[in-house]
Amino acid sequence: MSNMSKCNVPKCKVPKVHLSDKVDGKDFEVVLCLNDNNSIVAKCTDKIKKLLDEVAKNEAFKALKETTLTLTGHGERAKNTLAVGLGPENKLTQLEAFRRAGAVCSRAIQKQKAKSVVVDFSYFDKTGWSKNMHKFISSFYEGFRLATYKFTDFKDEENSQHIEELYIVIDKKYHEQTNQTLNVSEGMCHGVETARWLGDNPGNKINPETLSNFVKEKFKGTKIEVEVWEKDRLKKEKMELLLGVGQGSSIPPRLIVMKYKNSNSEPVCFVGKGITFDSGGISLKPSLHMEEMKFDMCGAADVIGTICALERMKAKVNVICIVATAENLPGPSATKPGDVHRGRNGLHVEVQNTDAEGRLVLGDALTIASENNPKFIVDAATLTGAMVIALGKFHVGYFARDDKLADSIQNALKDSGESAWRLPLGESHRKLMKGDYSDLRNIGPTRECGSAQGAAFLSYFVKEDIPWAHFDIAGTAWNVGEEYPYCNKKGASGIMVRTFCSLAINEQA
Ligand code: BES
Ligand code: ZN
Ligand code: ZN
Repeated sequence: MSNMSKCNVPKCKVPKVHLSDKVDGKDFEVVLCLNDNNSIVAKCTDKIKKLLDEVAKNEAFKALKETTLTLTGHGERAKNTLAVGLGPENKLTQLEAFRRAGAVCSRAIQKQKAKSVVVDFSYFDKTGWSKNMHKFISSFYEGFRLATYKFTDFKDEENSQHIEELYIVIDKKYHEQTNQTLNVSEGMCHGVETARWLGDNPGNKINPETLSNFVKEKFKGTKIEVEVWEKDRLKKEKMELLLGVGQGSSIPPRLIVMKYKNSNSEPVCFVGKGITFDSGGISLKPSLHMEEMKFDMCGAADVIGTICALERMKAKVNVICIVATAENLPGPSATKPGDVHRGRNGLHVEVQNTDAEGRLVLGDALTIASENNPKFIVDAATLTGAMVIALGKFHVGYFARDDKLADSIQNALKDSGESAWRLPLGESHRKLMKGDYSDLRNIGPTRECGSAQGAAFLSYFVKEDIPWAHFDIAGTAWNVGEEYPYCNKKGASGIMVRTFCSLAINEQA
C-alpha cells in the first residue's frame, strides 16, 4: 500500500488509506448507520447515538441509503461527524451499499474542504458482518476514492483542495486480509481513473497517435508488453476495415496490442472501440451534442484501464487487450457510402453508413483477437445510439454467444455492483447484416433492433468456437452520476473496468 497516494493519471490526487486500531484528531469521523424499522442503528459511541436518536425524532435523517447528516463538533476522533445511511439491513446488496455510502461521504466531506477522515469499522466486529469485514472496508474505500476523481487538466482552480488521508479503525487481526482486498480495490480504482481521464480528454488531445503514445509511456517499465501497429503494418496485415474508417483523417489509425502475462493459463482477451472522435464521417452527424463524440473511445479506455488495474494489483492473470483506434472524419479521402472494404478475415463489407464505424474497426480487432485463441473475448464499445434509447444511463446492455461466459459475467457484476443485462442475439439478427453487393453491409435494412444489429455484425468476426460477449456502453460511458454516486454527473464513468477486472481474476482463480 506504500504508493497509494501517487497516481500516474496526470493531476489526479487520491486519498491515502491507513489501517489502524486507534486514531484521533482528524477533520471528520464517518458514522455508518442502518435504518431499522425507521429507527437508526448507528455504529458509533453512545454520545453520537443519543444525538442521532434526537435527530431521528424530527426526521431530519433516517439513515436511508445514500443520505448524510453533518454533526458539528461532537466527534471523539475528529472535529466533525458525518452520519451516512446504509438503508435497511435486509434490503442491502451489502457491498454496493458500502460503496455508495463511501461515495456520498466523500462528496459531502470534499464540500466541507476537510483533509483527513476516519471511519470506525470496529463496531461491526463480533457481529454477523465481521466475516466480510475486509470486503465492506474495500467497497467503502472504492466508493470513497472514485468519488474524489475530477478532471481538472484545463481548470487549475479546482485542483487545490482534496482529501489527503482516510483512516480505517479496525482490529489488527483483520489487517492482513484487508490490506489484500484494499490492494485489489486500489488497482481497480486506478484503472477506472485512467479510463475516465482518457475519456474526459478532448479529441484534440487524445487521437490515435497520442493514445498510442500514452499507452507506451504508461506501461513502460511494467510487465505489460505494448505493440502499436501503424498504417504500414495495418496494410501489411490486410486490415482494410480499420484503415477505411481512419482514411478521412490526417492522423492514421492504429491497433494497440497490450499483453500482461502473469500466469501460465490460457489468455483472456478484451477488445475496445477507440474512435477518438466520431463526426460520423461523410454520413455526418448533426451538430447538436456532437462534442460528446470525444467519448467514442470509452470502450478502448475501459480495456486500457482494465489491464492497467490488473498489472497494478499484480493479479495472477494472462490478459491480452486490443484497441482499434481511429478518428472518424469527412476528409477528402474519407470512405464514402457504398464503398466496399475487405476485412482481415476475408469478408467484404459495404459501408452504407460511415457513421456505423465502430463495428468496422472492431471487426478487424476481433479478428486479431480470435487469432490469439483466447479462452474468451469480451469487447466494449460505445456502439449504438439505440442502446441509449433502450436502456438509458444505469444499465449496460451486453450480448453473449456463450451461456457459461454469461454466468461468469453475472458473477463479476455481483462483485462490482455495476449493472449490465444480457440481451438476445440470434440468427435473425445476423441475417439482417448480409449485403447485396458484398458479404456484409454495416447497417441493417431498418432501424429496428439497432443494438442487436451492431452485435450481429461483430459476431461475423469472432471465431465460432471462442466464447464471446459484446458490451454496448453507449448509454453508460459518460454522465451517469445521477445513477452511480461514485461517478461524476459530467464526464467519463469508467464503467465496466471493475467488472472486467473481476471477470479476468475469477476466470483464473
Ligand atoms: N458512436 C456512435 C454511437 C453513439 C451514439 C454512442 C450516441 C453514444 C451516443 C456510433 O458510431 C454511431 O454513430 N452509430 C450509429 C449507427 C447507425 C448509423 C446504424 C447510431 O447509433 O446512430
Ligand atoms: Zn458513428
Ligand atoms: Zn462511433
